[in-house]
Amino acid sequence: MKNFRYLVLGALAATALPFVGIVVGAQAQFNSLGRAPAEEGGPLMPPLEPGQAIQGRQVYLSLGCVSCHTQQVRPAGQGGDIAGALGARPSVARDYVLQPVVLLGDRRIGPDLANYGVRAKADADVHLAILHKVGGRDQFGFLYSGANHEIPSERAVMLAAYLRSLRQDYSSPEAPLK
Ligand code: HEC
Repeated sequence: MKNFRYLVLGALAATALPFVGIVVGAQAQFNSLGRAPAEEGGPLMPPLEPGQAIQGRQVYLSLGCVSCHTQQVRPAGQGGDIAGALGARPSVARDYVLQPVVLLGDRRIGPDLANYGVRAKADADVHLAILHKVGGRDQFGFLYSGANHEIPSERAVMLAAYLRSLRQDYSSPEAPLK
């Protein structure tokens, strides 16, 4: 029976130590992280999101876009994101501090969208991208009406506003732009 006490203590330690390391440690490291200016006196970054973009994130979530798209630019040397013009600098934790749900994603069937708002030049291009034309079929045609899916629904408008708000093209204390 003497050993039973050690067994229980050991089991407790085996669960408590990782909890402290992973949960409490991460909390201590990131909980106070907030917006910051890239240089003294500069504007706070990341910028506040427009209301329509906040609603559009819910549409993005509900349609499962995150199952094919990531929103994270990898550092040079850990992938070709920067060389491939997916971003000008790697993503850092501070980029996500305003987001109630962080949609990093874990699979890239489509391109990374962390800087899609920088690439998207016109609303029409964004709606074309949302449609995902494959083999002559618009995969997300149900978000549009009209013979050629040219009239966006309210959900499509919010989703486009969200996609256009995606940008990490500002300097951050942890990842200054060169
Ligand atoms: C089944 C996987 C899949 C799903 C789900 C998906 N996408 Fe895509 N997406 C792709 C692929 C693949 C491409 C690249 C298509 C191409 O280049 O023609 C793409 C391209 C895009 C682009 C253009 C990116 C660029 O850099 O030009 C945008 C924007 C986009 N998707 C947004 C979305 C949104 C919003 C949703 C949810 C409504 C979504 N995707 C759901 C696979 C997917």
